[in-house]
Amino acid sequence: MQAVRSILLLLSLTLSVFTGYSHASRTTLGSVDANGVNVFYREAGPSDAPILLILHGFPSSSHQYRNLIPKLADNYHIIAPDFPAFGFTTVPASLNYTYTFASLANTLSDFLDALDITSFAVYIFDYGAPVGLRLALQRPDLDIKALITQNGNAYEEGLGTTWAPIQAYWKSGSAEDREVVRSNVITASAVKSQYVDGTPSDLVSQIAPETYTLDWATISPADAQEIQLDLFYDYRHNVELYPQFQEWLRQSGVPVLAIWGANDAHFVWAGAEAYARDVQDLQLVKLDAGHFAAESHAEEIANNVLAFLKDHRY
Ligand SMILES: *[C@@H]1O[C@H](CO)[C@@H](O)[C@H](O)[C@H]1NC(C)=O
Repeated sequence: MQAVRSILLLLSLTLSVFTGYSHASRTTLGSVDANGVNVFYREAGPSDAPILLILHGFPSSSHQYRNLIPKLADNYHIIAPDFPAFGFTTVPASLNYTYTFASLANTLSDFLDALDITSFAVYIFDYGAPVGLRLALQRPDLDIKALITQNGNAYEEGLGTTWAPIQAYWKSGSAEDREVVRSNVITASAVKSQYVDGTPSDLVSQIAPETYTLDWATISPADAQEIQLDLFYDYRHNVELYPQFQEWLRQSGVPVLAIWGANDAHFVWAGAEAYARDVQDLQLVKLDAGHFAAESHAEEIANNVLAFLKDHRY
Protein backbone atom coordinates (compact mmCIF):
# COMPACT_ATOMS: atom_id res chain seq x y z
CA MET A 1 0.00 0.00 0.00
CA GLN A 2 2.80 2.34 1.02
CA ALA A 3 4.65 1.53 -2.18
CA VAL A 4 1.58 2.24 -4.30
CA ARG A 5 1.16 5.58 -2.58
CA SER A 6 4.80 6.46 -3.20
CA ILE A 7 4.50 5.60 -6.85
CA LEU A 8 1.34 7.68 -7.18
CA LEU A 9 3.02 10.62 -5.47
CA LEU A 10 6.04 10.32 -7.75
CA LEU A 11 3.75 10.14 -10.76
CA SER A 12 1.83 13.26 -9.78
CA LEU A 13 5.05 15.17 -9.07
CA THR A 14 6.43 14.12 -12.45
CA LEU A 15 3.20 15.10 -14.17
CA SER A 16 3.21 18.51 -12.54
CA VAL A 17 6.78 19.11 -13.68
CA PHE A 18 6.00 18.13 -17.26
CA THR A 19 2.67 19.88 -17.59
CA GLY A 20 3.75 23.00 -15.74
CA TYR A 21 0.69 22.56 -13.56
CA SER A 22 1.14 24.22 -10.23
CA HIS A 23 -0.97 24.56 -7.14
CA ALA A 24 -0.55 28.33 -7.24
CA SER A 25 -4.27 28.98 -7.43
CA ARG A 26 -5.19 26.48 -4.74
CA THR A 27 -6.34 28.23 -1.58
CA THR A 28 -5.00 26.78 1.64
CA LEU A 29 -6.40 27.40 5.11
CA GLY A 30 -4.23 28.03 8.11
CA SER A 31 -4.00 29.76 11.43
CA VAL A 32 -1.25 31.48 13.35
CA ASP A 33 -0.82 32.81 16.87
CA ALA A 34 -0.86 36.62 16.83
CA ASN A 35 -0.05 37.74 20.36
CA GLY A 36 -2.48 35.19 21.84
CA VAL A 37 -5.18 35.50 19.18
CA ASN A 38 -5.50 32.48 16.89
CA VAL A 39 -5.89 34.15 13.51
CA PHE A 40 -7.41 32.01 10.77
CA TYR A 41 -6.42 32.94 7.22
CA ARG A 42 -6.73 31.93 3.62
CA GLU A 43 -3.56 31.81 1.55
CA ALA A 44 -2.91 31.24 -2.14
CA GLY A 45 -0.33 31.82 -4.84
CA PRO A 46 3.42 31.35 -5.11
CA SER A 47 5.14 31.91 -1.76
CA ASP A 48 7.83 34.06 -3.39
CA ALA A 49 5.37 36.28 -5.30
CA PRO A 50 4.53 39.86 -4.21
CA ILE A 51 2.04 39.82 -1.35
CA LEU A 52 -1.54 41.01 -1.67
CA LEU A 53 -3.21 41.31 1.73
CA ILE A 54 -7.01 41.12 1.48
CA LEU A 55 -9.15 42.41 4.35
CA HIS A 56 -12.79 41.46 4.79
CA GLY A 57 -15.82 43.35 6.08
CA PHE A 58 -18.78 43.00 8.43
CA PRO A 59 -20.36 40.51 8.96
CA SER A 60 -18.21 38.21 6.85
CA SER A 61 -14.67 36.86 6.87
CA SER A 62 -12.03 35.77 4.36
CA HIS A 63 -14.80 33.46 3.11
CA GLN A 64 -16.21 36.40 1.16
CA TYR A 65 -13.13 36.24 -1.09
CA ARG A 66 -13.24 32.49 -1.85
CA ASN A 67 -14.11 33.28 -5.52
CA LEU A 68 -11.82 36.29 -5.91
CA ILE A 69 -8.68 34.75 -4.38
CA PRO A 70 -8.02 32.08 -7.06
CA LYS A 71 -8.43 34.71 -9.80
CA LEU A 72 -5.57 36.75 -8.30
CA ALA A 73 -3.28 33.96 -7.18
CA ASP A 74 -1.31 33.19 -10.34
CA ASN A 75 0.97 36.18 -9.83
CA TYR A 76 0.41 37.19 -6.22
CA HIS A 77 0.83 35.62 -2.83
CA ILE A 78 -2.60 36.19 -1.32
CA ILE A 79 -3.06 36.48 2.42
CA ALA A 80 -6.62 36.98 3.74
CA PRO A 81 -7.08 36.87 7.52
CA ASP A 82 -10.30 36.73 9.56
CA PHE A 83 -10.52 39.51 12.15
CA PRO A 84 -11.31 38.69 15.79
CA ALA A 85 -15.13 38.28 16.14
CA PHE A 86 -15.40 37.07 12.54
CA GLY A 87 -14.98 33.81 10.65
CA PHE A 88 -12.79 31.23 12.33
CA THR A 89 -10.38 33.44 14.25
CA THR A 90 -10.58 32.61 17.95
CA VAL A 91 -9.79 34.78 20.94
CA PRO A 92 -9.20 33.04 24.30
CA ALA A 93 -11.38 34.58 27.02
CA SER A 94 -8.28 34.84 29.22
CA LEU A 95 -6.94 37.61 26.93
CA ASN A 96 -9.71 40.03 28.03
CA TYR A 97 -9.74 41.24 24.45
CA THR A 98 -11.48 44.58 23.97
CA TYR A 99 -13.42 44.64 20.73
CA THR A 100 -12.43 47.96 19.23
CA PHE A 101 -11.03 48.86 15.82
CA ALA A 102 -7.77 49.76 17.57
CA SER A 103 -7.62 46.16 18.82
CA LEU A 104 -8.40 44.74 15.38
CA ALA A 105 -5.59 46.85 13.90
CA ASN A 106 -3.20 45.67 16.63
CA THR A 107 -4.12 42.06 15.91
CA LEU A 108 -3.58 42.60 12.18
CA SER A 109 -0.19 44.12 12.99
CA ASP A 110 0.68 41.11 15.20
CA PHE A 111 -0.56 38.76 12.47
CA LEU A 112 1.76 40.32 9.87
CA ASP A 113 4.67 40.09 12.31
CA ALA A 114 3.86 36.44 12.99
CA LEU A 115 4.09 35.75 9.24
CA ASP A 116 7.10 38.06 8.84
CA ILE A 117 5.29 40.23 6.28
CA THR A 118 6.64 43.77 5.85
CA SER A 119 5.89 44.67 2.24
CA PHE A 120 2.57 44.24 0.43
CA ALA A 121 -0.31 45.70 -1.54
CA VAL A 122 -3.57 45.78 0.39
CA TYR A 123 -7.21 45.33 -0.63
CA ILE A 124 -9.62 46.96 1.81
CA PHE A 125 -13.39 46.68 2.08
CA ASP A 126 -15.92 47.80 4.71
CA TYR A 127 -14.38 47.07 8.18
CA GLY A 128 -11.15 46.19 6.43
CA ALA A 129 -10.79 49.86 5.46
CA PRO A 130 -10.41 51.42 8.92
CA VAL A 131 -8.40 48.40 10.11
CA GLY A 132 -6.03 48.60 7.14
CA LEU A 133 -5.70 52.39 7.29
CA ARG A 134 -5.09 52.31 11.06
CA LEU A 135 -2.34 49.79 10.35
CA ALA A 136 -0.81 52.19 7.82
CA LEU A 137 -0.84 55.00 10.42
CA GLN A 138 0.64 52.99 13.26
CA ARG A 139 3.20 51.02 11.25
CA PRO A 140 5.15 53.49 9.07
CA ASP A 141 7.84 50.80 8.88
CA LEU A 142 5.58 48.70 6.64
CA ASP A 143 6.07 49.15 2.91
CA ILE A 144 2.57 49.47 1.45
CA LYS A 145 2.98 49.38 -2.31
CA ALA A 146 -0.60 49.93 -3.46
CA LEU A 147 -4.11 50.27 -2.06
CA ILE A 148 -7.21 48.73 -3.57
CA THR A 149 -10.37 50.00 -1.96
CA GLN A 150 -13.57 48.18 -2.81
CA ASN A 151 -16.28 50.03 -0.88
CA GLY A 152 -13.61 50.73 1.70
CA ASN A 153 -14.51 54.11 3.07
CA ALA A 154 -12.30 56.94 4.35
CA TYR A 155 -14.56 59.98 3.81
CA GLU A 156 -17.64 61.33 5.61
CA GLU A 157 -19.53 61.70 2.33
CA GLY A 158 -19.12 57.98 1.78
CA LEU A 159 -21.39 57.17 4.72
CA GLY A 160 -24.88 56.34 3.43
CA THR A 161 -28.13 57.10 5.22
CA THR A 162 -28.19 53.54 6.60
CA TRP A 163 -25.68 54.81 9.19
CA ALA A 164 -28.33 57.06 10.81
CA PRO A 165 -29.28 54.69 13.70
CA ILE A 166 -25.61 54.00 14.38
CA GLN A 167 -24.75 57.71 14.32
CA ALA A 168 -27.60 58.35 16.78
CA TYR A 169 -26.08 55.69 19.06
CA TRP A 170 -22.65 57.39 18.75
CA LYS A 171 -24.24 60.64 19.95
CA SER A 172 -26.24 59.25 22.88
CA GLY A 173 -24.36 56.11 23.88
CA SER A 174 -27.70 55.01 25.31
CA ALA A 175 -28.96 51.46 25.88
CA GLU A 176 -32.11 52.36 23.89
CA ASP A 177 -30.11 53.40 20.86
CA ARG A 178 -28.00 50.26 21.16
CA GLU A 179 -31.21 48.24 20.84
CA VAL A 180 -32.23 50.27 17.78
CA VAL A 181 -28.92 49.36 16.15
CA ARG A 182 -29.44 45.71 17.11
CA SER A 183 -32.88 45.61 15.51
CA ASN A 184 -31.63 47.40 12.37
CA VAL A 185 -28.36 45.59 11.78
CA ILE A 186 -28.05 42.40 13.86
CA THR A 187 -30.85 40.43 12.20
CA ALA A 188 -30.86 37.63 9.64
CA SER A 189 -32.71 39.81 7.12
CA ALA A 190 -30.32 42.76 7.56
CA VAL A 191 -27.36 40.44 6.96
CA LYS A 192 -28.99 39.05 3.83
CA SER A 193 -29.83 42.53 2.56
CA GLN A 194 -26.12 43.46 2.75
CA TYR A 195 -25.47 40.84 0.07
CA VAL A 196 -28.59 41.28 -2.02
CA ASP A 197 -29.43 45.00 -2.00
CA GLY A 198 -27.97 46.87 -4.94
CA THR A 199 -27.05 43.68 -6.78
CA PRO A 200 -28.50 43.71 -10.33
CA SER A 201 -31.60 41.50 -10.38
CA ASP A 202 -30.12 39.01 -12.86
CA LEU A 203 -27.21 38.39 -10.47
CA VAL A 204 -29.11 38.16 -7.17
CA SER A 205 -29.88 34.49 -7.76
CA GLN A 206 -26.13 33.86 -8.11
CA ILE A 207 -25.39 34.93 -4.54
CA ALA A 208 -24.80 31.77 -2.54
CA PRO A 209 -27.12 31.64 0.48
CA GLU A 210 -24.25 30.14 2.50
CA THR A 211 -22.75 33.64 2.64
CA TYR A 212 -25.38 35.39 4.73
CA THR A 213 -26.47 32.17 6.46
CA LEU A 214 -22.97 31.50 7.80
CA ASP A 215 -22.48 35.16 8.69
CA TRP A 216 -25.69 35.10 10.68
CA ALA A 217 -24.61 31.89 12.44
CA THR A 218 -21.42 33.70 13.48
CA ILE A 219 -22.90 36.94 14.78
CA SER A 220 -26.26 35.83 16.18
CA PRO A 221 -25.26 34.13 19.48
CA ALA A 222 -25.97 36.45 22.42
CA ASP A 223 -22.31 37.17 23.33
CA ALA A 224 -21.36 37.63 19.68
CA GLN A 225 -24.15 40.20 19.25
CA GLU A 226 -22.75 42.28 22.10
CA ILE A 227 -19.30 42.20 20.52
CA GLN A 228 -20.74 43.37 17.19
CA LEU A 229 -22.64 46.17 18.91
CA ASP A 230 -19.45 47.21 20.72
CA LEU A 231 -17.74 47.45 17.33
CA PHE A 232 -20.58 49.51 15.88
CA TYR A 233 -20.33 51.90 18.81
CA ASP A 234 -16.56 52.09 18.46
CA TYR A 235 -16.79 52.79 14.71
CA ARG A 236 -17.16 56.50 15.54
CA HIS A 237 -13.44 56.54 16.32
CA ASN A 238 -12.75 55.47 12.74
CA VAL A 239 -14.68 58.47 11.44
CA GLU A 240 -12.64 60.69 13.76
CA LEU A 241 -9.51 59.28 12.11
CA TYR A 242 -10.66 60.00 8.54
CA PRO A 243 -8.58 63.22 8.36
CA GLN A 244 -5.50 61.22 9.41
CA PHE A 245 -6.26 58.48 6.88
CA GLN A 246 -6.53 61.20 4.21
CA GLU A 247 -3.26 62.74 5.37
CA TRP A 248 -1.60 59.34 4.98
CA LEU A 249 -3.02 59.01 1.46
CA ARG A 250 -1.53 62.43 0.59
CA GLN A 251 1.82 61.95 2.29
CA SER A 252 2.53 58.35 1.30
CA GLY A 253 1.68 58.88 -2.37
CA VAL A 254 0.31 55.34 -2.40
CA PRO A 255 -1.37 54.47 -5.74
CA VAL A 256 -5.06 53.72 -5.24
CA LEU A 257 -7.57 51.70 -7.22
CA ALA A 258 -11.04 52.60 -5.94
CA ILE A 259 -13.36 49.95 -7.37
CA TRP A 260 -16.81 50.44 -5.98
CA GLY A 261 -20.18 48.77 -6.00
CA ALA A 262 -22.01 52.00 -6.82
CA ASN A 263 -25.37 50.73 -5.50
CA ASP A 264 -23.98 50.15 -1.99
CA ALA A 265 -26.31 51.89 0.48
CA HIS A 266 -23.76 51.79 3.32
CA PHE A 267 -20.71 53.21 1.54
CA VAL A 268 -21.98 55.28 -1.33
CA TRP A 269 -20.23 56.19 -4.58
CA ALA A 270 -19.38 59.71 -3.33
CA GLY A 271 -16.97 57.98 -0.96
CA ALA A 272 -15.07 56.55 -3.94
CA GLU A 273 -14.87 59.89 -5.76
CA ALA A 274 -13.64 61.61 -2.60
CA TYR A 275 -10.34 59.72 -2.82
CA ALA A 276 -9.48 62.07 -5.72
CA ARG A 277 -8.98 64.88 -3.19
CA ASP A 278 -5.96 63.21 -1.63
CA VAL A 279 -4.65 60.61 -4.07
CA GLN A 280 -2.39 61.70 -6.93
CA ASP A 281 -2.37 58.31 -8.61
CA LEU A 282 -6.02 57.24 -8.51
CA GLN A 283 -8.01 54.92 -10.74
CA LEU A 284 -11.78 54.95 -10.21
CA VAL A 285 -13.94 52.05 -11.36
CA LYS A 286 -17.71 52.12 -10.91
CA LEU A 287 -19.45 48.74 -10.76
CA ASP A 288 -23.18 48.09 -11.14
CA ALA A 289 -23.05 46.17 -7.86
CA GLY A 290 -23.97 46.44 -4.21
CA HIS A 291 -21.91 46.27 -1.02
CA PHE A 292 -20.51 42.75 -1.47
CA ALA A 293 -19.36 43.41 -5.03
CA ALA A 294 -16.76 40.64 -4.75
CA GLU A 295 -19.64 38.14 -4.60
CA SER A 296 -21.36 39.34 -7.78
CA HIS A 297 -18.41 40.82 -9.70
CA ALA A 298 -15.34 38.75 -8.77
CA GLU A 299 -14.23 38.52 -12.40
CA GLU A 300 -14.41 42.28 -13.05
CA ILE A 301 -12.70 43.08 -9.77
CA ALA A 302 -9.92 40.55 -10.38
CA ASN A 303 -9.27 41.87 -13.90
CA ASN A 304 -9.07 45.46 -12.68
CA VAL A 305 -6.85 44.60 -9.72
CA LEU A 306 -4.45 42.58 -11.89
CA ALA A 307 -4.25 45.34 -14.53
CA PHE A 308 -3.76 48.04 -11.89
CA LEU A 309 -1.00 46.20 -10.06
CA LYS A 310 0.73 45.31 -13.35
CA ASP A 311 0.55 48.97 -14.47
CA HIS A 312 2.29 49.86 -11.24
CA ARG A 313 4.96 47.21 -11.74
CA TYR A 314 3.89 45.29 -8.68
C1 LIG B 1 -8.03 39.25 32.50
O1 LIG B 1 -8.88 39.68 33.54
C2 LIG B 1 -8.78 38.88 34.71
C3 LIG B 1 -9.83 39.34 35.69
O2 LIG B 1 -9.85 40.73 35.82
C4 LIG B 1 -7.35 39.00 35.29
O3 LIG B 1 -7.21 38.19 36.43
C5 LIG B 1 -6.37 38.56 34.20
O4 LIG B 1 -5.04 38.78 34.66
C6 LIG B 1 -6.57 39.32 32.92
N1 LIG B 1 -5.74 38.76 31.89
C7 LIG B 1 -4.96 39.48 31.11
C8 LIG B 1 -4.19 38.72 30.06
O5 LIG B 1 -4.87 40.68 31.18
